[in-house]
Amino acid sequence: MTPASPLHPPLLSPSLLSCDFGRLREELEALEAAGLSWVHWDVMDGRFVPNITLGPPLIKACRKGSSLFFDVHLMIVEPERYVEDFAAAGADLIGVHAEACTHLERVLAQIKATGKQAAVSLNPHTPLQVLEYVLPQCDMVLLMSVNPGFGGQQFLDFTYRKLYELRVMCRRQGCWPRVQVDGGVTPDNAGALIAAGADVLVSGSAFFGFPPYYERHQTFVRAMGV
Ligand code: DX5
Ligand code: ZN
Repeated sequence: MTPASPLHPPLLSPSLLSCDFGRLREELEALEAAGLSWVHWDVMDGRFVPNITLGPPLIKACRKGSSLFFDVHLMIVEPERYVEDFAAAGADLIGVHAEACTHLERVLAQIKATGKQAAVSLNPHTPLQVLEYVLPQCDMVLLMSVNPGFGGQQFLDFTYRKLYELRVMCRRQGCWPRVQVDGGVTPDNAGALIAAGADVLVSGSAFFGFPPYYERHQTFVRAMGV
C-alpha cells in the first residue's frame, strides 16, 4: 500500500451537478455552513461529453458570495480557449482532460500562468502513462471512476488498481499532487479509496441526495477515516 501524501489531508468536494440549480446560491451557502471547504463544478460542453451544463458567467456570479475553494472540472474540447475565462470567473483550480488536449504541457503552463492550480483528468480507460512527463506540473490528478457526462453512475472497480499505480508513479518521481476520484463515490467506498491513495473525493448524487448536509458530510468524514 502506498498511502496518500501527508501534505494533503483527505477531503470531500461535492459535485454541484446533483444540487438544486434553481437555488444555487443557497446550496453554496449551505455547503459552507455544513463545514465543507471545496466544491466541484462540472463543466460540460455537449462535445467532449454528451451533456451541457454551465460556464464562466455562472461561476463568476457565485464567486462573490462564496469563500469555498472552486474546483473546476472542464469536460470540454479545446479547453485552452477558455482557461483565462474560468480563471477570471473565480476558479481556484482548473482541471482539463488529457484526452481533450493535443498539447497538454502547454495547457498546464497556461493554467499556471493565470495563478490558479492545475489538474489533469483522465477518463477511466486512459492509461496513467500520459502523465509521465507532466506530473511535476500537476497540483492535482483527477481519476474518473465513471465515464464522464452524468451523475449517478456505477463506480468502476479498476479505479483502485489505477490509484495504487498512480501512487507508485508519484513516489518514483518524488512529486505529490493531490489525487481526486470522481464518479460513483459513496460512504461505502470512501474509506477504501482513501486507503488506496485518493485524497479528494467528489460526490454528487450520494451527497446532495441525502440532506441535511452537515450530517451527510460527517458521514463521509467518518467513512474516510479523517
Ligand atoms: C461526471 C462528473 C461527476 C459527477 C459525479 O461526469 O464529473 O463529478 O457529478 O456524480 P456522482 O457522484 O453522482 O457519480
Ligand atoms: Zn466532475
